[in-house]
Amino acid sequence: MISPGIVTVSYIAATILFILALGGLSNQETARRGNWYGISGMAIALLATVFGVVTQNYVELMAALVIGGSIGILLAKRVQMTEMPELVAILHSLVGLAAVMVGYANFMDSSVHFEGVELTIHDVETYLGILIGAVTFSGSVIAFGKLSGKIGGKPMTLPGRHLFNLGLLIAAFWFCREFVIQSAAGDGMTPLIIMTVIALVFGIHMVMAIGGADMPVVVSMLNSYSGWAASATGFMLNNDLLIVTGALVGSSGAILSYIMCRAMNRKFLSVIAGGFGTGGGTTAKVGGEDQGEVVPIDAEETAALLANAKEVMIIPGYGMAVAQAQHIVYEITSALRKKGVNVRFGIHPVAGRMPGHMNVLLAEAKVPYDIVFEMDEINEDFPDVDVSVVIGANDIVNPSALDEPDSPIAGMPVLECWKGTTSIVLKRSMATGYAGVQNPLFFKENTRMLFGDAKDTLDAVFKAL
Ligand code: TAP
Repeated sequence: MISPGIVTVSYIAATILFILALGGLSNQETARRGNWYGISGMAIALLATVFGVVTQNYVELMAALVIGGSIGILLAKRVQMTEMPELVAILHSLVGLAAVMVGYANFMDSSVHFEGVELTIHDVETYLGILIGAVTFSGSVIAFGKLSGKIGGKPMTLPGRHLFNLGLLIAAFWFCREFVIQSAAGDGMTPLIIMTVIALVFGIHMVMAIGGADMPVVVSMLNSYSGWAASATGFMLNNDLLIVTGALVGSSGAILSYIMCRAMNRKFLSVIAGGFGTGGGTTAKVGGEDQGEVVPIDAEETAALLANAKEVMIIPGYGMAVAQAQHIVYEITSALRKKGVNVRFGIHPVAGRMPGHMNVLLAEAKVPYDIVFEMDEINEDFPDVDVSVVIGANDIVNPSALDEPDSPIAGMPVLECWKGTTSIVLKRSMATGYAGVQNPLFFKENTRMLFGDAKDTLDAVFKAL
């Protein structure tokens, strides 16, 4: 056993390491270091809790650590990079579930005694912890379903959904009052269970109503909720580290949601209220027969265009992750740079399926950071670009976001590659992207379609180069 003083010092050290981890993760060059800070902070936190806070039931605790840890290691080893977003979503759901379980356990624990105002405060903490936990749990399970394609990406909107949400919110407040009153009289389980059901329904309804292209905001929002759920659990258990860590996750998730909203040109409240991405349907013509013909191109012609270009912009999207084409992209980039071609990468904030998805892949393939640019930094440069290579991207280069007010992605800023001399789009078919809308870029006069799996076609382009 270690003394309470050492536990406090360890918790402060862990908190500092978590803050350093967040700082590190905000930049590719420092991300690896940030990860190590996070791992060290969590190790210190775990050791201090196991040897300083826990006083009994060591056998059960060790069994839980071994089972949970082994499942974690197995999942982390098995997961494909493309499955990362759904893994993150399901992990958020576990945080929510843990908050619900701790809340109930704490409420039923006969050794926990409070009176008067303290009891009311503790009851409200318990109620909020279970409420946020249940919303996080059910919302994250639906998000997992949508991200993994098990549930359709289209928004499911009930008639009068705002009234329905409002009704659930009022009911949650009312049952909180009931719970506090009944708990003072030694009861309270019934309003707690009813509220849990309400929160579960709210979580499902909220995420079901979100349209495909707005999922990034929901994922970061659930990330934030999972932090607040952990923080509420910290209040319940009187554990400072859990309160602070939860608040760090909660606030960084909230900031990320804000950044995502700005990237999508959406209002945060409108996304939460749901129904974005429904659209009027004028652009959702799958197949695109009425948009004209597309012009295919082959690998040799692509290589020739690239070799003769001065300015090349590479726009990676989700398909690059699916094809695992980042390494051959790096080879082509190096070959072109050796020929004196200025190659840059344009990264859309919601490219792929999780924040920073493309940056992670490009970093893995050792693409130099100084040629990777955010959308805002390079969107004005497209008129000077000779060739834009769109690798497995679709929604993030869809001009209808700018000129079709009824489009489900209307208002979302996109990479305006069509303003350059030529765009080459690499994809396997004419299928739509995540938002399910056809892309007029494919039918533009200066667009060429290079059909096939991105890795195979880029291998061929590299050979031809
Ligand atoms: P998408 O719009 O999903 O388009 C990806 C394209 O890649 C598809 O049209 C697909 O066409 C192609 N593709 C798939 N596998 C391929 C392969 N092996 N080789 C070549 N092409 C392949 O992706 P995006 O442009 O990156 O946009 C991201 C979308 O996901 C946005 O709507 C965004 O809102 C949403 N989203 C993002 C996030 C985050 S946080 N980034 C989270 C959830 C959702 P084919 O099938 O014809 O090949």
